[in-house]
Amino acid sequence: MCGIVGYIGNREAQPILLNGLSKLEYRGYDSAGIAVLERNQMKLRKTEGRLANLSARLRDHQLKGTAGIGHTRWATHGRPSDANSHPHTDMSGTFTVVHNGIVENYVELKQELEQRGVVFTSETDTEVVAHLLAEHYEGDLVSAVRAVIQRLQGAYSLGVMTEHEPDKLVAVRQSSPLVVGIGYGENFIASDIAALVAHTRQVYILEDGELAVITPERIAIMNAESGQPTNRKPTQVDWNADQVEKGLFDHFMLKEIHEQPLTLRNTMLGRTNEYDEVCFPELAHAADVFKNVEKVFIVACGTAYHAGLIGSTMIEQLTRIPVQCDIASEFRYRDPVVTANTLLIVVSQSGETADTLAALQEGRRRGAKVLAITNVPTSSIARDADYVISTMAGPEIAVASTKAYTAQLLAFCLFSVYLGQEKRTIRSEQRVELVRGLKALPVQVEKVLENANEVKQYAESIKDAGSLFFIGRGLDYAVALEGSLKLKEISYIHSEAYAAGELKHGTLALIEQGTPVIALVTHMDLYDKTVSNIKEVKARGAHVMGITVEGNVQLLNAADEICFIPPTLQLLAPILAVVPLQLISYYTSLALGKDIDKPRNLAKSVTVE
Ligand code: AGP
Repeated sequence: MCGIVGYIGNREAQPILLNGLSKLEYRGYDSAGIAVLERNQMKLRKTEGRLANLSARLRDHQLKGTAGIGHTRWATHGRPSDANSHPHTDMSGTFTVVHNGIVENYVELKQELEQRGVVFTSETDTEVVAHLLAEHYEGDLVSAVRAVIQRLQGAYSLGVMTEHEPDKLVAVRQSSPLVVGIGYGENFIASDIAALVAHTRQVYILEDGELAVITPERIAIMNAESGQPTNRKPTQVDWNADQVEKGLFDHFMLKEIHEQPLTLRNTMLGRTNEYDEVCFPELAHAADVFKNVEKVFIVACGTAYHAGLIGSTMIEQLTRIPVQCDIASEFRYRDPVVTANTLLIVVSQSGETADTLAALQEGRRRGAKVLAITNVPTSSIARDADYVISTMAGPEIAVASTKAYTAQLLAFCLFSVYLGQEKRTIRSEQRVELVRGLKALPVQVEKVLENANEVKQYAESIKDAGSLFFIGRGLDYAVALEGSLKLKEISYIHSEAYAAGELKHGTLALIEQGTPVIALVTHMDLYDKTVSNIKEVKARGAHVMGITVEGNVQLLNAADEICFIPPTLQLLAPILAVVPLQLISYYTSLALGKDIDKPRNLAKSVTVE
């Protein structure tokens, strides 16, 4: 879970590398470094801490040269420190490596190298790669890289440079994402397109097991094992540079929360027709598969898992197919029963989450057909799946996921209606009502966002709380889980989400005078039940903020404060109800002065198990 960049061309490499790293910092931000070939001599600068530390250091000691590699790290092997920061070099300092992933057999490789007299300067798994390169080098960097990767087990995207061949960079992809950007008289590598869009929108997306040799004029891609060239067409990226900038917002998270009306519109676009039917042209070839689906698993991590929980209710209600939603890291080890006609839906914003990818592979091995709901159509998960629904949320930079989540909910609802149409389980009035409800959502989210100030005041009132509870029933419980994760993630305040009816079975013991409780009350059919649970916590001193639909003023008889969302269908309420929760987390974190976009210990894309 690190970010890699590389540049070779005719411009100064340092600013390009730093700018690229700034777009990848979401992947890891505990240390950063760059290596530049200065008059054919390898020069390195690396520092513990944020990229800003590295930039500050480089301000007075610039590296001059037109080829270089850079890295922003999320520590796995070895604590964040200058020494453990990438790039890593061999003992002579002539070979440098940046790495994203984990070299699983590094302990034995390290022992082997030490026995041959190699002295290590870091605690990382990556350093073995630099020393192995020096050992295998016989005048051809590509051959050396190919020989070294034969020795590596695990996941690795690598960027490699040597003083001996200053005219080239070598990049390898194995289970960690890597793209090659195509320029004029210059070329690039990066872990993510976001780092390249300021320079080019033409990229090659490397496949696992591929190696790219990059010079200013040429990009040659080959199978790393056989050395056979691979003939590939470039991909045109439709992102633009503004999408990876904060613009007028103070944080990416706030920008992304406010983008939701647009991202919902974009995710709907072209997926309904004038009869309010759902159409997925991208799934047309699989209509028979969907007609025959008898069982569905939904598998994901974190926020995407929370979207899956709501997706499971949507699919069950509209198709009556049994659905089970699993955490990806559990699914893959629990021997799930996958029968013929099982559909596995994997959900992932990044499309690179290691646990979700492994669950996908496990489900496929057991015979399931795989549908991916992802925000990155070029990602590993999208490429491994049989079918893909893209959420059109655009790049999500803040570690805390917001617009991707609401787009996932929308995609689930569209797919549930689609499946209902295919299996003829949805009544046409119900379909029309849902599709119209979906179409109304962007304007309704805008309305919720207009009331951000009220939420801000509430956020300030809870900033000193030691602990918080989110409660709800049915879909409201799933939204509560997401609200609680969001708050923990960026404010570091402990919180728990509970099914409202479950509190009395133990957790009620934690409620005391002044404990803030956020109660989601959008399930009007469960209204009386949830109100009883609110009264239980109130009786023990809790201060309750209720989130409910407009007009439901009687909730004020039970809750201390209320935040309203516009009226909508029950299945769609989570898309509106989560917005105040996102804002509460944002403003609480802001009031506490936390690093909202880059919370401690986390990274956006979790490509390790
Ligand atoms: C969300 O706020 C989190 N940062 C995290 O739970 C995230 O949703 C999870 O890691 C899954 O990521 P993915 O959607 O990219 O697979």
